[in-house]
Amino acid sequence: MGYFRQNIEQAKGYEPGFQPKQTDVLKLNTNENPYPPSPAVMKVLAEINTEKLRRYPDPVGDEFRQAAAQIHSIPPDNIMCCNGGDELLTIAFRAFCDRNRPVAYPVPTYSLYPVLARLQNCRAIQVPFDSEFNLPAKLAGAGAPLTIVCNPNAPTGTFIDVGELASLADELDGVLLIDEAYVDFAEADCVNLVKDLDNVIILRSMSKGYGLAGLRFGYAVAQPDLIAGLMKVKDSYNVDALAIALAAAAIKDQKYFKENVEKVKKERKRLTERLRELNFEVPESSANFVLAAGRDRNAREIYDKLEQRNIYVRFFDLPSLSNKLRITVGTGEQNDKLISALKEILSSKGTSNGKENG
Ligand SMILES: Cc1ncc(COP(=O)(O)O)c(C=O)c1O
Repeated sequence: MGYFRQNIEQAKGYEPGFQPKQTDVLKLNTNENPYPPSPAVMKVLAEINTEKLRRYPDPVGDEFRQAAAQIHSIPPDNIMCCNGGDELLTIAFRAFCDRNRPVAYPVPTYSLYPVLARLQNCRAIQVPFDSEFNLPAKLAGAGAPLTIVCNPNAPTGTFIDVGELASLADELDGVLLIDEAYVDFAEADCVNLVKDLDNVIILRSMSKGYGLAGLRFGYAVAQPDLIAGLMKVKDSYNVDALAIALAAAAIKDQKYFKENVEKVKKERKRLTERLRELNFEVPESSANFVLAAGRDRNAREIYDKLEQRNIYVRFFDLPSLSNKLRITVGTGEQNDKLISALKEILSSKGTSNGKENG
């Protein structure tokens, strides 16, 4: 084409997870919450008036900031609302990175980071995790103005201790963005780090724990100076009036949120056990998905056979993630359906791994 900047011409672009059009499928491929959002959200939606739509929204979404601030016991000016956590990542790349200012992150991790680096024309310093997905010691020495650690990590589901991330932030000269998109399902989180550390940004998403992936709402938590800098980069009206009202209703209903998260965690445990019984290797997950390694099975073939049954999961075959399936935790009924399909597939011939199935 030739009309675009060279790095855009060369970019592949991010490939979002498959979103099937049919409704009669079992969709365990993009880590949505299997349960609906709080009834409080639906009530606010039903009561939205036209005036709210006629006018521009509050540019900073104070209704949501007040509600989130209360939950995290921090002032509202420590929060910036975003059009999904992904928008915060875009804003951070634009704010901190360019041709001479690289980003650093451990790999394997969220595949959007290298795409954003390419779009921003900045170098991506990818530091490999060890086989247990511990925080790589070399990350601090990379000297990047922006370091990102996804915690719990995607797609492994593994968790790095808060203390280790505090030490990393302390060692860095640049900013540490901790991507906590999945933290609602973990046992700890890093929000309190922003009270003492002026170089930490926490990313939160309303897509996972709050069941609002379709709404597109996330937020940043950081000290006011960092928030003010990020605000300069965002679009003026980056979150719409409906989203602000509905996300605020969702975060205020902590009782529903906590019950919902507990249900997912309980199912995660059960799904992990069932998969291990089927001889998959499944590391402990702190997220709402599990990563199942095929061992002697051909994960690609299992993936295809699940798809033939209208069951969608995610298949990985990267050098650091070979022969693996990432499976979103569904409801009890959905997980049972997946496990019976897997039993059926594994008892048929042709899934014992080997290049011959390839
Ligand atoms: C690791 C990670 N970070 C951030 C996001 C962004 O989530 P959202 O834009 O839906 O808030 C996702 C979405 O799946 C993710 O997997």
